[in-house]
Amino acid sequence: DETTAKRKDAHLDLCATGEVEPRQNSTLLECVKLVHCAMPELDAADVDLSTEFLGKRLRCPLLITGMTGGTERAGKVNKDLATLAERHGLAFGVGSQRAMSEAPERAASFQVRDVAPTVALLGNIGLYQAARLGVDGVRRLMDAIGADGMALHLNAGQELTQPEGDRDFRGGYALVEGLVKAFGARLLVKETGCGIGPDVARRFKELGVRNIDVSGLGGTSWVRVEQLRATGLLAQVGAEFSGWGIPTAAATASVRQAVGPEVRLVASGGIRTGLEAAKVLALGADIAGMALPLFKAQQEGGLEGAEKALQVILAGLRQAMLLTGSKVCADLRRRPVIKTGELKDWLAAL
Ligand code: FNR
Repeated sequence: DETTAKRKDAHLDLCATGEVEPRQNSTLLECVKLVHCAMPELDAADVDLSTEFLGKRLRCPLLITGMTGGTERAGKVNKDLATLAERHGLAFGVGSQRAMSEAPERAASFQVRDVAPTVALLGNIGLYQAARLGVDGVRRLMDAIGADGMALHLNAGQELTQPEGDRDFRGGYALVEGLVKAFGARLLVKETGCGIGPDVARRFKELGVRNIDVSGLGGTSWVRVEQLRATGLLAQVGAEFSGWGIPTAAATASVRQAVGPEVRLVASGGIRTGLEAAKVLALGADIAGMALPLFKAQQEGGLEGAEKALQVILAGLRQAMLLTGSKVCADLRRRPVIKTGELKDWLAAL
């Protein structure tokens, strides 16, 4: 219906210009230090960032996580950022395809295969929306955009801050189980900025989930986005909870520990630099995910604005690889990692 598209454009405006990253929130990546190697014995040109995702080879272990679609403006964001992903060999996700399931004429704004024929591409739908659509409905959304996989997003915190949001979260694991049976390794389960912790991740793994994006606290807060649109009680409680969540560094390290090596782990939520991407890889992630920084750069400077922002991130990641003596991403995970302060407290409890 019309309200889904309107809400999406209001969200884009808030994310482009509003305070959607509460300053007091932290990924706790400042508690993570990598160790300098004075003798890298590497040629910068030989650093190989490539990795596997959704059956495809990425040239870079980065995912532009799902944000948008459904309006003309959203379509331009998808086209520009998918173009960037194709150029640099990153993975790319479209935003929630709910708008598309409600009005098929909105499908064009989710189509990126013309500009991104080879990228590892993720569709996107909310868990409870997926239940309403059924497995076949979800499959149609994925196939309609030629996606390699489907991201299933969890957003209880956001829903509770929306007047029209879901309130009944029962039966979630059974829903995930049904979707895993249908989609197998093409399914990814993600949060949207409040984080997936080790207990939930372990249950997902037992159900057969093979891709998890922790999407932790420290970046875009969807509770904050909704709080900015809310009034009365929801605005007040939203303010109270806009720092709620598991910091990205804590979620990444604890989930890797919980699920072992078979799960492809994406770490996102507040990753803003190449060095931070290197830190989550060292903590156990296979891929670092980013949404807001590339969206903002695209809104301010179009495709070439986003290109410039990505160049800085890629240079930082490559430099971190070189200065830790890491030739391939897996080397980074074998390096010592210093974990200090509050992160240590989180990891002691999780
Ligand atoms: C999002 N995010 C998101 N996630 C999702 O699964 N479906 C969606 O439709 C959206 N929409 C959306 C729009 C915009 C403008 C932003 C910035 C983000 C959440 C996103 O994928 C990611 O999980 C979080 O934003 C955390 O990453 P960053 O933004 O801190 O890098």
